[in-house]
Amino acid sequence: MIFSIHLTNLLKSFSLALELADGGLSSHHWRTAMIADRIGGHLGLAQGPRQSLLYAALLHDIGAAARWEEKNSLYGHKPITNLYQHAEDGYRLLADTPLFKAMAKPIRHHHDRWDGSSPSGLAGGDIPVAGRIINLADTIEVLIDDGRYILDQREDILAAVARQSGSQFDPEIVRAIGEIARQDSFWFDLATPQYYDHFFRGLQSHGQVRLNIDGLLSAAEIFATIIDRTSSFTATHSRTVASVAAYLAHAKGYSDTETKIMRVAGLLHDLGKLAVPNNILEKPGKLTPREFMIVKQHVYYTHRILTQIDGFEIIAEWAAFHHETLDGTGYPFRIPPANLRLGSRIVAVADVYAALREHRPYRPGLSPGEVEKIMLDMAAARRLDNDIVHTLLAARDDIEATLPAV
Ligand SMILES: [Fe+2]
Ligand SMILES: [Fe+2]
Ligand SMILES: [Fe+2]
Repeated sequence: MIFSIHLTNLLKSFSLALELADGGLSSHHWRTAMIADRIGGHLGLAQGPRQSLLYAALLHDIGAAARWEEKNSLYGHKPITNLYQHAEDGYRLLADTPLFKAMAKPIRHHHDRWDGSSPSGLAGGDIPVAGRIINLADTIEVLIDDGRYILDQREDILAAVARQSGSQFDPEIVRAIGEIARQDSFWFDLATPQYYDHFFRGLQSHGQVRLNIDGLLSAAEIFATIIDRTSSFTATHSRTVASVAAYLAHAKGYSDTETKIMRVAGLLHDLGKLAVPNNILEKPGKLTPREFMIVKQHVYYTHRILTQIDGFEIIAEWAAFHHETLDGTGYPFRIPPANLRLGSRIVAVADVYAALREHRPYRPGLSPGEVEKIMLDMAAARRLDNDIVHTLLAARDDIEATLPAV
């Protein structure tokens, strides 16, 4: 099985998960990336640096994704206690990965001021150019008010940016945006969500980076780290699910590549959890019916984000059907049992196993005997696949040896 994924396509979809919020999906990262790419083109950046700029822009606030309050302040003009924290956290998430190393520094410096008065102490041309571009693109994106006609805002936005030329922003980049902004279509594009997808597809066509399964695994690891950071109770949940699911897939005869694909599905199965506020995930008591509905929606987002990636059809299915059940009453799709494939049933079993042995805000982790009893009961009630549950229980010691400590 040859596996090849367009990095632009992947990051564009993953970036949606970074800004999942109460009101659904916003477009902060997409629009920041569109503006940044236009500036990069205008300044004549070479192809390599321009690609890194695009990827960094698509991920620039990745360091805030697990912290609900901070994420909301960044896009809602609300004051933020430490503007540089998420930039530093984003840098740390990416710095050690071969694939994303080039994006780490621009992200670290994407709020650095041109005049050097930021904590990093970097000034002027010492700030990575991609960081300087994202700084300006990010500001413009946040200044756009979707409730007003876009061209009515042009002069105000340009004036706001010009006032900070030489202090906050690189004067050369302010000049570039002034030139780009004369084109009405630049603004119309930003105000037309139906166009965004076309913009990114256009970029994909000219020789963009493609990932094989190992590159994809390392990208998924980064997102698993963020997903698990949304709550101290799930610090290792995605990795545990990935390891258990990969073990079971191998035991059921999946090839090496398919087993790696299963690992990716395990790492990303809770991607949509980034849409659930931290205070619900950490709530010590029983959830209200409405809170429970918000929690249940996470699998919907996992599916709808992953299916946007070309080549991800199987991964989306395996990952997002983990709360579907063999009696046909699962959520959010109520998949009929006949359509619930082995891969999805494996992730469902791995997810329950991982959750039961972990601590939760409302109960401590369960003993091996309790875990076994609950899983057998669920299998008997057709909530889980009986055969897979037995495979897991029989291989329990081997599986435990591959897992992170609880
Ligand atoms: Fe930011
Ligand atoms: Fe931002
Ligand atoms: Fe889940």
